[in-house]
Amino acid sequence: MVEIVKPALEYLPSYKAALERGWSSDNVRLMDATREQLAAIEQDPLAFLASLDDPEAKGDPITLPDGTLVPRLPGFRRWIWDGEASGSIGFRWQNGTAELPSHVLGHIGYAVVPWKRRRGYATQALRLMLDEARAVGLPYVEITAKPGNPASHKVILANGGRLVERFFEDAAYGGVESLRFRIEL
Ligand SMILES: CC(C)(COP(=O)(O)OP(=O)(O)OC[C@H]1O[C@@H](n2cnc3c(N)ncnc32)[C@H](O)[C@@H]1OP(=O)(O)O)[C@@H](O)C(=O)NCCC(=O)NCCS
Repeated sequence: MVEIVKPALEYLPSYKAALERGWSSDNVRLMDATREQLAAIEQDPLAFLASLDDPEAKGDPITLPDGTLVPRLPGFRRWIWDGEASGSIGFRWQNGTAELPSHVLGHIGYAVVPWKRRRGYATQALRLMLDEARAVGLPYVEITAKPGNPASHKVILANGGRLVERFFEDAAYGGVESLRFRIEL
């Protein structure tokens, strides 16, 4: 069985072990993010856990890949858990609107550890996160995925998503082509 859990001390050793195996929960910043997370866990585990659950956007600004700083949106992260850390799924939004700033690549992003892929974990994790998005009151969520990521497309489509448009990511991300999907809630 796979579930999504609020990051907590009891799950942290397993999550840390996944990072140490070279996995990244961050699909944009990859190993830079892994190194930062390992350092943060080392320095102050409770502060690290607290930083992952931030529905009031109290955290520091976000650094985009080109170094631009942007305000943090309300959001939180859940860990995909099957008895071991299996991945991570994040959700962020703007209060009172389903719109997102153009530099935010979708409401929800996810990553499963490579050694537990193709077991339906991401599909199930997204299904569970959609309940959280409903609870926030959004009418729909947007998820973006690169054209070359069929596994992610399947995860979105299996959750009732439909393709809305092809678009170019902001220059801050390099301006590459991507796909925008929408799931009505
Ligand atoms: C995308 C990702 C989260 C999918 O996780 P997962 O737990 O393996 O996904 P699921 O098992 O729920 O479903 C994936 C579907 O895609 C299929 N799939 C998986 N890898 C595939 C591939 N390389 N090519 C085509 N289809 C693939 C699976 O068979 C499954 O389809 P099915 O239900 O018809 O069998 C995972 O591959 C990952 O972490 N990738 C790196 C990070 C990433 O790309 N995140 C998404 C950014 S938009």
